[in-house]
Amino acid sequence: MSKRTVVTMPGDGIGKIVLPEAIRVLDAVGFKADYVHGDIGWDFWIKEGNALPQRTIDLLEKHKLGLFGAITSKPKDKADKELSPELQGKGYVYYSPIVTMRQHFDLDICIRPCRSFQGNPLNFIRRGSKGNVEEPLVDVVIFRQNTEGLYAGVEWTNPPDTVRKAMETHPKMKNFSHVPSPDLAISTRIFSRGACQRIVEGAFEYAKKYNYKSVTVCEKPNVIRETSGMMEAEAKKIAAKYPGIQLRSTNIDAQMMWLTKNPEEYGVIVSGNMFGDIVSDGFAGLVGGLGFACSANIGRDCAVFEPTHGSAPKYEKLNPSIVNPIAMILSACMMLDHIDEKDKADQIRQAIARVVQASKVQTYDMLRLTGGPDVFKHGAATTQQMTDAIIQNL
Ligand code: NAI
Ligand code: MG
Repeated sequence: MSKRTVVTMPGDGIGKIVLPEAIRVLDAVGFKADYVHGDIGWDFWIKEGNALPQRTIDLLEKHKLGLFGAITSKPKDKADKELSPELQGKGYVYYSPIVTMRQHFDLDICIRPCRSFQGNPLNFIRRGSKGNVEEPLVDVVIFRQNTEGLYAGVEWTNPPDTVRKAMETHPKMKNFSHVPSPDLAISTRIFSRGACQRIVEGAFEYAKKYNYKSVTVCEKPNVIRETSGMMEAEAKKIAAKYPGIQLRSTNIDAQMMWLTKNPEEYGVIVSGNMFGDIVSDGFAGLVGGLGFACSANIGRDCAVFEPTHGSAPKYEKLNPSIVNPIAMILSACMMLDHIDEKDKADQIRQAIARVVQASKVQTYDMLRLTGGPDVFKHGAATTQQMTDAIIQNL
C-alpha cells in the first residue's frame, strides 16, 4: 500500500500533548506515513479571526485524512475580547472549527466505540441479584448522525415574520399564538432521508463487518413522529437487507435508564445528532470516561479522527503532563481501521489492553485522583509513561 499523508491538527491545550503521543505509537507499530501540520484553534482565531484557516481546509481537501486533537471554544463576549486589537470591530465571528469542519466536508457519520478494557478500575460495576458485584463488559458502538438535526444551526430567537407565518400553517403553533416574537426561541430539528439512510446503512455495514448481532435505533418516534419516525422507517427498510442482524428500537430516555441495567446487551446503536451525542457520552461513562473515548468523523471522501474530550485547559501547562493519551491513541486506531490497516490497529488495542490489565501504569483519571501536579505522589503515571508502556507492549 502506498504511503499515506495524514493532516495532523493538534489544536489547543491538551490536544497539543496527546496528538504527538498517538504518532509515537503509530511509528512504533510500523505505520508509514507523512504527517503534515494543519493550523486550527484559538490562536488562529486571535491572530487571524478564523479558527479553521483556509490553508488547513486545503490540506484536508488534498489528503482527505486527518488526525485532530482538541480545540478551545469560548463564549461570544470572551471570543470578541481576545481577538487581536487590529481585527476587532471588523465583523469577525467565532465559529467552532470542528463543527465547521464536519459541515464543510460533510463528515456525516460519527462513530464512537465504547468498549471496556478488562481490569480498568473505571469500568462500570453493578450489584447482582444475590448481592454480588457484577462487572459486565460493554462493547457498544454508537453511530451518530453528525451534520443535521438539532445541531444543524437552523434557529432563531425573535423569528422573522415569514418564519413565524410559515410555522403558523401548522395547527400546533396555535399554542404559541399569544407569545410575542421577541419572546420566542425556535431551534429546528431537520432530518433528510438521504442522511438517515447513510447513517443507518453505515451502522448495519459496521455490524456485519465486525459481527455485532443487533443494530438499535435510539430515537423517540412515539413523540417526535416526523424526524425520529423517518429514521426508524428507513432503518426498517435497510434492516431487510441484513437478515442476520436484529433491528431493535429504543427511546432515548428509556435507553439512558437501561444504560446501567443491561449495557452488555447492546451492539451497534444508531441515533440522530443530539441523541447520539447524549447516548455516546452515557456509554463512554461506563468504560472509563473521557480518557478512553475515541471517535471518527467520516464523510464520502474525507475522514477526521479525534478523541471526544476537549482541550482541558487547566492541565495544558502541567509539566510533566498528567492526561490520559489513550482516547487519542484509540482514535488513531480508528484511522487505521478506516484505511485498511486493521491489523496494526488491533496490535495497538491489544497493547493498550495489556497495559490496562496489568494495572501498573495508570494515569490520574484511572486512579480516580483529582487532577493536579501532585498526582504523581499518589502513583499516577505521566502521559508519556502511559504511551511508553503501550509501545513496550506492542
Ligand atoms: P474537556 O473534555 O476539555 O475536559 C473536561 C475534564 O475531563 C477535564 O477537566 C479533565 O478532568 C477530563 N479530561 C479530559 N480529557 C482528559 C484526558 N485525556 N485524560 C484525563 N482526563 C481528561 O471539557 P471542558 O473542560 O468542558 O472544555 C474545555 C475546552 O475544550 C472548552 O473550550 C471546550 O469548548 C473545548 N471542547 C472541545 C472539544 C473538541 O475539540 N472536540 C470537545 C469538548 C470541549
Ligand atoms: Mg458531546
